[in-house]
Amino acid sequence: MTDGFSLLSTYVEGLDKALGGGIPKGSTVVVAGTPGTMKTSLVFNMLYHNCFHGSRALYITLEQSAENLKIAMKRFGLGDFNESQIYIVDIGRLRLELSKKEVTRDWIDILVEIVKEAVNTNHYDLLALDSLDALYSLMGLHNPRRELFHLFGALKEFGLTVFLIGEVPFGSSQIAQFGEDFLADGILYLKHVEINESDVELRLRCVKMRMVDTEHSSFTLLHDGGNFSVVKSIPKSRESEQRVVLNV
Ligand SMILES: Nc1ncnc2c1ncn2[C@@H]1O[C@H](COP(=O)(O)OP(=O)(O)O)[C@@H](O)[C@H]1O
Ligand SMILES: [Mg+2]
Repeated sequence: MTDGFSLLSTYVEGLDKALGGGIPKGSTVVVAGTPGTMKTSLVFNMLYHNCFHGSRALYITLEQSAENLKIAMKRFGLGDFNESQIYIVDIGRLRLELSKKEVTRDWIDILVEIVKEAVNTNHYDLLALDSLDALYSLMGLHNPRRELFHLFGALKEFGLTVFLIGEVPFGSSQIAQFGEDFLADGILYLKHVEINESDVELRLRCVKMRMVDTEHSSFTLLHDGGNFSVVKSIPKSRESEQRVVLNV
């Protein structure tokens, strides 16, 4: 517990310390990165470990089916969990189940209703939305900034710690499309970095985390059997020098 707020552990070895203790509970955190940078795995991992320490999580998937996600997380090394710990809402399936009339409804409102009902009846404290971009394509982008503002505000009111996954297109340096970076309390940015002709490293950087004294430098994100860890990244210019030292 810090002054008036408590911190959520990421269960990523080394990351809580780098974040200044963890993620302030009740924050809205955007986890952004290009495809394949383990956004889904990282967020699910954080939810999973917190749920074994008393949290309850709602994972809204728009990118892949609930079944596919469960298989991927099992292959990734996570053990079994039950629906009272992590409840996966499969929007693709929901969409098929809704009548034609409903499909024309505002998806932001549908989402907020689902979350509200789930929070009121089952007391979830964590929420993940995977991904914002899939939601944008579903919404039809009439007035994305206004609708996004509405979504961030509504989720904030429920008091949940929220993870919003954002897909950054390959080659783009833009983390957010519609001002999510201003609205979010925190931004974790994932990036593949070519360290030589054949090797690529996954890097994680906390761009922003309100209320805590965060390190803003880049970390190498490692994973082993369902557990993530971060280590300080070696600056590109010093990599060859470092390797020589290590080989001595
Ligand atoms: N069982 C696994 N063990 C380790 N890494 C995996 C495993 N399955 C997938 N990956 C890696 O994770 C990447 C996809 O992770 P994912 O979390 O789906 O990324 P994103 O959500 O950013 O697209 C793949 O590109 C692959 O390199
Ligand atoms: Mg994903």
